[in-house]
Amino acid sequence: MKGTFPIDKFRELRTPFYYYDTKVLRETLSCVRTEAAKYGNFDVHYAVKANANPKVLSIIRENGLGADCVSGGEVRAAIKAGFPTNKIVFAGVGKADWEINLGLDYNIFCFNVESIPELEIINELAAAKGKVANVAFRINPNVGAHTHANITTGLAENKFGISMQDMDNVIDVALEMKNVKFIGLHFHIGSQILDMSDFVALCNRVNELQDKLESHRIRIEHVNVGGGLGIDYKHPNRQAIPDFKDYFETYAEHLKLRSYQTLHFELGRAITGQCGSLISRVLYVKQGANKKFAILDAGMTDLIRPALYQAYHKIENITSEEVVEAYDVVGPICESSDVFGKAIDLNKVKRGDLIALRSAGAYGEIMASSYNCRELPKGYTSDELV
Ligand code: LLP
Repeated sequence: MKGTFPIDKFRELRTPFYYYDTKVLRETLSCVRTEAAKYGNFDVHYAVKANANPKVLSIIRENGLGADCVSGGEVRAAIKAGFPTNKIVFAGVGKADWEINLGLDYNIFCFNVESIPELEIINELAAAKGKVANVAFRINPNVGAHTHANITTGLAENKFGISMQDMDNVIDVALEMKNVKFIGLHFHIGSQILDMSDFVALCNRVNELQDKLESHRIRIEHVNVGGGLGIDYKHPNRQAIPDFKDYFETYAEHLKLRSYQTLHFELGRAITGQCGSLISRVLYVKQGANKKFAILDAGMTDLIRPALYQAYHKIENITSEEVVEAYDVVGPICESSDVFGKAIDLNKVKRGDLIALRSAGAYGEIMASSYNCRELPKGYTSDELV
């Protein structure tokens, strides 16, 4: 089944562009809220890195989620979209001084700190402003996730977080500092995770660490388990809404949360992935030596996931009902990795047909580049195209 698209409107627009179905986005948000609300102490943040389109951000903000940011630019985007500053957390291994100062000036909820040198700088910059910054430590739990190697983050070999061995030391250092307040622990094991046993492994590790901290009489108020819940790239229509019920139940069942604690989540892909499609036009159909190429006006500069991670995005010819044929679907960029899919069955393609690359609402528009001096793709919501 193809998605439902306002094709007449699409025909008037210059391609390629991102299209966000706000009905899907709103339903996803409503489901996240309902499922999380079953547990009084679950607090869901949105990982802005997945998609910072201002219209998408403001719908997410309207639904009450906090914002997880990884740069000063993301903090600014979140504030501009109206996220309350006390619902903004700031993570990342390499925060520049101006970015830390920005977070301090806006009194954001928390800095997720990844090293002692970073902690020292936050303490110093906060002191200069006469403030006390809330900090949580990102711990590298050394838990693998069954996903693409480029998007696992919680293994000892990855650059992220503080190792478990160093955790006690970092906490001791923080407790001595006057301008930081240690409030929690932060974890994130990877992205596009569909096997709940990976999250169970994380829960077990968090439980061990918490027991250890308690034996040292260290109390933490917030546990942040990051994001990572995957989406069904094969079935964007049938499985438009990820299984939040199962996801939250997994944590409720396996993570031993203390009665005074809040459990934070930072979901990116699961929130915006399925509502977005990259819409492009077919420029040419070219007969190769032994196959046909459908050459699109969208390329890896607009959606880099297939080239970078060999990621699958469902491809549909949304303006043809003719017999199905197989095509290699490629872009116009001068790189042989500029391929969206090989031997893809599509309704017979002709010049001018509109092609949708589905499930592109997360890590799509935001990862676009201007390589080959191309213009960045625009993003439209269904609300605008009625
Ligand atoms: N929290 C932290 C600390 C993260 O590093 C990430 C993603 C998230 C939350 C959100 O993860 P999500 O819920 O979206 O899985 N560009 C790649 C994905 C990179 C993810 C980076 N970190 C892709 O296109 O698959």
